[in-house]
Amino acid sequence: MTKELEIVRPDDWHLHLRDGTILKSVLPYTSKIFGRSIIMPNLIPPITTVQDATMYKDRIIEALPNDHSFRPLMTLYLTETTDVMDLAEGFAKNLISAVKLYPAGATTNSSLGVNDFKRLYKIFEKMEEIGCILCVHGEIVDPDVDIFDREHVFIERVLDPIIRTFPNLKVVMEHITTEEAVNYIETSNENVAATITTHHLVINRNLMLAGGIKPHYYCLPVAKREKHRVALLNAAVSGNSSFFLGTDSAPHFDSQKESSCGCAGCFTAPNTLPILAQLFEQESLLKELEKFVSINGANFYNLPLNSEHIKLVKEEYPVEFPNKIFTSEGDITVFDPGFPLYWSVKS
Ligand code: DOR
Ligand code: ZN
Repeated sequence: MTKELEIVRPDDWHLHLRDGTILKSVLPYTSKIFGRSIIMPNLIPPITTVQDATMYKDRIIEALPNDHSFRPLMTLYLTETTDVMDLAEGFAKNLISAVKLYPAGATTNSSLGVNDFKRLYKIFEKMEEIGCILCVHGEIVDPDVDIFDREHVFIERVLDPIIRTFPNLKVVMEHITTEEAVNYIETSNENVAATITTHHLVINRNLMLAGGIKPHYYCLPVAKREKHRVALLNAAVSGNSSFFLGTDSAPHFDSQKESSCGCAGCFTAPNTLPILAQLFEQESLLKELEKFVSINGANFYNLPLNSEHIKLVKEEYPVEFPNKIFTSEGDITVFDPGFPLYWSVKS
């Protein structure tokens, strides 16, 4: 039996596109379906000025297929020396949509991130005043804190003090992975929200580590116990306006993933919506999918909903997705949810 669902064209509120060859290869998977994406600035070197962001935006637009009307929303990579006037001017001119905080050393290309959060308080003051959103990679980088505890310790030690000091600062806690983060967002005021990735709704740490290590399931924050995945899924399907999709689709060449020191990141852009449709359907909450992928994020970012719609169709037989994409510089493995997918997108 075919089943159809028409929804407002979705947006992805956390996306890695990289640059050069990878950018050209991965962008169409997102731009075909999504209306807008918040583009992560963790290139080498990172996007730290409005001029960098504008030049990067031009390269993204240049790489777009002609018939895709996708809008990249640019971000600045926050450092302890970010020029606050540049930030404010770029935000006022709509050249940037948010600012990204990476604790130094927390993840891919974060070595130029922040060590001393207090040094950012002047910048937060300005962002609070002008309404610029702070996107946060919420993991503490302390060798004494176990990697599976880094998110909830970050909430206690760093995020909560920031939010208490700047109650009107709009904050997105990115790619949450724990029940503690879900509870924190649920009990915060309306200025605090969270993105949830596709892969964290599918995998737990057993899937990554039991029966052999699966490097393509390694991402940061690292997947946690099953009870945390269930808490994330319940938050995503709840319709609660504080939770929305940020895929964190993060392409790396297979040679960098399947290595003695593998990179973090799951490349979910090609099959994200079919996976989500299936998960929401399994929870008998397909009606909440549109809020999670198309409505809640736009509202939080104070942007109009996309005017177009897309159609999701449930097919009789499993839909095939490529398991890799091939680029002139190497192959990139597409995230494997581990179950057949029956939904396809007619954009
Ligand atoms: O898994 C991840 N990959 N998490 C991040 O925070 C960064 C991302 C990347 O850039 O590869
Ligand atoms: Zn990311």
